[in-house]
Amino acid sequence: MTIRSVPGSEGHQLRRAVCPGSFDPITNGHLDIIARASKLYDVVHVAVMINKSKSGLFAVDERIELIRQVTAEFGNVEVESFHGLLVDFCKQRDIPAIVKGLRAVSDFDYELQMAQMNNGLSGVETLFVPTNPTYSFLSSSLVKEVAAWGGDVAHLVPPVVLEALTERLAKER
Ligand code: PNS
Repeated sequence: MTIRSVPGSEGHQLRRAVCPGSFDPITNGHLDIIARASKLYDVVHVAVMINKSKSGLFAVDERIELIRQVTAEFGNVEVESFHGLLVDFCKQRDIPAIVKGLRAVSDFDYELQMAQMNNGLSGVETLFVPTNPTYSFLSSSLVKEVAAWGGDVAHLVPPVVLEALTERLAKER
């Protein structure tokens, strides 16, 4: 992919950030955070972190493909998977910042622990972006549960994800 060139940034190091997650599948809440990060950084890496103990509805490659499709318009988003520590993903790509959405106070405790652990491990900073209130209740797990019971999730995921979800759940029935 071609990363959009930022006027005046020639010869300067690109400012990079990572939006990590499971993305099983990506929701409008994730997309909103990635879109906002893509306005703040030259390159946003979306890292689909592989958790071998969690089997997902979508294979990692399918998640990546869906994320690529819905972030293509931003022009500065790179999507890949990673098996390992997030700090190692950051080190290998020279990424100094992790961008995370915070939906509610309930997210904060664990997010703070991870941010402090990651900072202690490698010095990487975590920046929290308040989730758009429209999506403050939204999670991939809830989307899957509601969709599995035939509930309407069309307003919660991008159309291409809705299509993939509908197809996958029909196969699983
Ligand atoms: O979408 P999720 O499942 O809430 O994302 C959690 C994720 C993947 C960002 C987090 O579990 C993570 O960073 N995993 C990678 C392994 C790692 O670095 N663990 C130590 C965290 S301090």
